[in-house]
Amino acid sequence: MKGKLQSLLDKEKLPRHIVIIMDGNGRWANRKGLDRISGHREGMKAVRSVVKAARELGIKSVTLYAFSAQNWKRPKEEVNALMELLRQYLIKEGDKLVKEEIRLNAIGRLRELPSDVYKVLIDTMEKTKHCKEMILTLALSYGGREEIVDAVRKILSRGDISPEDINEESFSQFLYTVDLPEPDLLIRTSGEMRLSNFLLWQLAYTEIYVTKTLWPDFRKRHLIKAILNYQNRERRFGLTSDQIKKRHIQ
Ligand code: FPP
Repeated sequence: MKGKLQSLLDKEKLPRHIVIIMDGNGRWANRKGLDRISGHREGMKAVRSVVKAARELGIKSVTLYAFSAQNWKRPKEEVNALMELLRQYLIKEGDKLVKEEIRLNAIGRLRELPSDVYKVLIDTMEKTKHCKEMILTLALSYGGREEIVDAVRKILSRGDISPEDINEESFSQFLYTVDLPEPDLLIRTSGEMRLSNFLLWQLAYTEIYVTKTLWPDFRKRHLIKAILNYQNRERRFGLTSDQIKKRHIQ
């Protein structure tokens, strides 16, 4: 059933690509007197719910910051639990992703993942590669600076690219996100005002929406509120407000 909030959305102005920093699992657990891992487990429920909601709303691309390159430094038990949750998610969701026509994609230093997680990730990507309705990207062992460094390494190792061949567009082709549209909207939960090494290159012109809601509590209505907020903004890409208005008239 379509709710009242959803009916306020302008279907013509949906963000094509939404990227999310899912923050606040630990605080959510702490407030409930639970351990941090319970917070991540609850966070996984929010992942399921938000992916389903985005698909229902007609969003074409969603990227979730699930595990950063820096998260490896967390206590071993927490890292292991996160890897296990990810493995379970991929095993359980695979068929559902196919049914809902959602293609799974991943960005980051994926080879650093435990081999069983890496394998199920690759299998699920393979299984969903024909899906066309939405692309769900998981950022895993991901860091924005690492991504830029990896791009430079790829360019240098090619050996046939000269300095004058490098511009913003050609450089982007070496990033992990080569097949994805530019992010239109970044959502960060739990109120922190930082980028935490997420998509540093790609976020140049992205609209940022920060909510105090902790990730495990984030559901479809929160996603709709973020999109409504985005739809009420004017994106200028460095131009003036008048220039943008003229463009719309032309
Ligand atoms: C940040 O909360 C969250 C993470 C580091 C992990 C995100 C993982 C999930 C939502 C679950 C598994 C994901 C998938 C895709 C199956 P935090 O621990 O930094 O919270 P805190 O800042 O309150 O301590």
